[in-house]
This record gives sequence, C-alpha cells and structure tokens, in this order.
Amino acid sequence: MSHKRTEISILIESESERENVLIQGWVRTRRDSKDFFFLELNDGSCLKNLQVVVKREISEFETLKSIRTGSSVSVVGNLVASQGKGQKWEVLAKKVELLGDSPENYPLQKKRHSLEFMREISHLRPRANMFGAVFRIRSRLSFAIHRYFQENGFFYVNTPIITASDCEGAGDLFKVTTIDLHEPPRSEDGLIDFAYDFFSQKTYLTVSGQLEGEAFATSLGKIYTFGPTFRAENSNTSRHASEFWMVEPEIAFCDLQQDMDWAESFVKWVTREVLDTCQSDLELFFNFVDKGLEKRLRFVVERPFHRVSYTEAIDILHASGRKWEYPVGWGANLQSEHERYLTEDHFKSPVTVYDYPKEIKPFYMRTNDDEKTVAAMDVLVPSIGEIVGGSQREERLDVLLENMKRHCISEEDYSWYVDLRRFGSVPHAGFGLGFERLLMFITGMGNIRDVIPFARTPGSI
Ligand code: 4AD
Ligand code: MG
Repeated sequence: MSHKRTEISILIESESERENVLIQGWVRTRRDSKDFFFLELNDGSCLKNLQVVVKREISEFETLKSIRTGSSVSVVGNLVASQGKGQKWEVLAKKVELLGDSPENYPLQKKRHSLEFMREISHLRPRANMFGAVFRIRSRLSFAIHRYFQENGFFYVNTPIITASDCEGAGDLFKVTTIDLHEPPRSEDGLIDFAYDFFSQKTYLTVSGQLEGEAFATSLGKIYTFGPTFRAENSNTSRHASEFWMVEPEIAFCDLQQDMDWAESFVKWVTREVLDTCQSDLELFFNFVDKGLEKRLRFVVERPFHRVSYTEAIDILHASGRKWEYPVGWGANLQSEHERYLTEDHFKSPVTVYDYPKEIKPFYMRTNDDEKTVAAMDVLVPSIGEIVGGSQREERLDVLLENMKRHCISEEDYSWYVDLRRFGSVPHAGFGLGFERLLMFITGMGNIRDVIPFARTPGSI
C-alpha cells in the first residue's frame, strides 16, 4: 500500500482542505444519482460518517455498481468543503476500490434493529452506531481507570485467573479441571480424586482478585487490579454476567471512612473524564437512549454522595410505606428493589451504605465494636443499584481466625492469607467496582449484555 489511511475522526476535524487523502472503511449507505453516487463511509474511529462523492468520470465507475451497505472500500480523493447540508467536509473521489463485497443478506441494513437481534450478531454489532459508541467509550473508561490509579500512586497488579481460593465464599465458582469427566480418577471412598488433577487439587476461575490484592497492598502500599472475573451464579438479570471485569483497589493503612472516600472520588473522576473525552459518542446516549442521562451524570460528578448506615437504610425502607417483593428486616440482604428505592426515590443521588450485618458478609470483613456489624460498604447509583462493594479487612489475627472458623474456612488452605496478619499486619481496606455496571451507568444502557463485547450469561455463550 502506498500511503497510510487517515482516520475519519481526524478528517472531520480538519482545519483546511486536503489533497489525496486515503480513507478506508465500511459503507453505511449508498445513494445514486444519474452521473454520480454518494457513499456514507464509517471507519469506526468515531460516530460520524464521511460522505464520499463518486462521479461518473472516474475510470472504475461502472465496476463499482456492486458497492452496497456493508461493503468495505478504499478511497483516494480530495477533502473539500461539502456542498450539502449536515456536514462540513466531504471527499471527492479520484480512485475507489471495492475491498470486500457485502451481499444483500448483510444483517445490518439501514433500519432500526432490536437490541435482542443485535445480541445474536455480536460479531457484527460493533459496526452499528450505538455499539460503536459503547465500545469506544468502554475503551476510554478503561484508560481513565488506569489514569486515576496511576496518578494517585497505585500500582497495577495482575492477580491470578485460576485460583484455589473462594474469595466471596458464595460458592458461585466455575471449576477448572483437565480430569476426564467420563472416567475420573477416584479415591477409595468413590469420590473424584483431585490429587490427580492438573494442579493436584481443586481449582476455579477467580471470583475476585482481592485476597491476592491484599498481599500486594500490604507490600506496595496501594495497588489495584483490573481484570476478568467469573461467577457461576444462576441469576438471569440485566445486571449480572457470568464473565465480567472488575476493578479492585486495595489500600494499606486505610479504614472504612477513607475507603468510602476513595470509592466516591474514583467514580466521580472517571465519570468526569468520560464526559470530557467522549462528548460526541455520549451525545448519542443523551439523545436516543436516556433523556435524563446527561443531567444525572453531571449531578453525580458535582455533588457529594449520601452516606447512610445499613441500620438507617432499613429504617428508611420501613418508613417508605412501600410493598416490597422481598421483605425488609434487619439482618437481611438489601435486594435490588431496596437499593434502587434508596438511590432513586429517597436520596435521589448516589448513596454509600455502610456497616452491614456480619452474618450476610464474607469472612474477611472487619468486625465492628458492636460485634453485630462489619465495616462493609456498597455504593448504589440510580438506575443500576450496587456498583461498588468493599470493606475494611479484618487485620487482627485472632478475630480473623475466629471468623474463618465460623465460615468453615480451612486455616490450612488460607495459611498464606493468615500470614499477612502474622507478619506486620496493618489496617487496610479496598473495594471492587463492576466495570460493566459503571459503563451501563455512564451510557444509560439497560442491559449488561449490551456493554460487553461478547456476553456470557447463564445458558448463553
Ligand atoms: O460486591 P462484590 O461481590 O465484591 C467483591 O467481590 C469484593 N471482593 C470486592 C473487593 O472488596 N475487592 O463485587 C464487586 C462489584 C459489585 O459491586 C458489582 O458492581 C460487580 O462487582 N459485580 C458484577 N458485575 C456484573 N456481573 C456480576 N455477576 C457481578 N457480580 C458483582
Ligand atoms: Mg456486593
């Protein structure tokens, strides 16, 4: 190839006319006139298309009849001020080459398609406006997350994906094995003998990098992980995926108050960063997905989050006079309907709920002085509910061992984790943010399946 293509995102911002630019992309539409035709070309670099005018006088004109919606083309031409309305620039083609044909059964013809239909063609949907925008924003959000932590002195740690520990203790684990499922090795009691498995023991896909993160936070001070996370929970909701990405900062010398401060500052900063850097893609969501979205995002960035203890939250729910599908009572987990009432109806803003009952939380959370609650916190946001879950960790050796006993967790299996309390233990805290949940919040998209490139949910891959 003679020269490099210029991306449409750059050309539409051009200050002046340009000669002999090379643009390459996919045809969104073609309109024919007598002596010329128009192509709306998109190359994925931005939401906008660039209009290309192909006149009869160019030598290949007759051979270009088969260019249709979905075709990939390569065009050399001059960038000139557009005669038509709606765009500043267009390209007058000098040379057009059809790279890849696209017959009439191309599924993305120009019309509105349902989100359900788009999920069936997840390999093609990033070529549609809305999904192109979702995935460009996803990329920027990812970058913003790294920037936030790097600029605040956190180190990025890659925690293992295959693990032998169950961090959340919820039992939602995918097993990892190379054992022949038809003829598994068995021990004398007839059970499968995992000593013969690949790692000589039972292993799983990780549900959280937190425990390993704690080892690094109590070495490097402030760390974060950002990676894929797997949960075999059979909840078929619009906010749960079996494979999702989680961001998990872990901070040494940190208590629950500071942990809540970090979570709030983090959510605000990355949201603002996306507002500042993804304006044109965000407009699509402001205009066509959720009319209240822009106001909501600005509100979140500008105003402090509310903070309320779990006990106060229960009182608010009782006082609401609502009929709940799941009963409200001290000691029960907050369900999505409760969380959404708190953030959408009562506080009308993001809210951080803290100090949850000990019985409903994992073994690693720090027991409060009341002995009934733990130093846990969840950040709830309108239209999603829980977006962040975190806690101060139990740093006292004796209390941790007691909690492990209560949760039937073997001290032997977790001896490395307990060591962190045996040698130079410090107060520390952290949280996990569901990356897709944040992306749903920022784009207003209502289903987690539509913000993951290739969604994995129960019964569907
Ligand atoms: O509240 P969770 O389960 O917390 C933990 O895993 C802790 N170990 C985090 C930590 O303290 N380091 O999960 C954290 C967040 C949730 O708030 C939610 O946003 C997201 O991860 N999440 C999911 N997102 C999509 N699909 C699922 N199935 C999710 N489960 C949790
Ligand atoms: Mg949680």
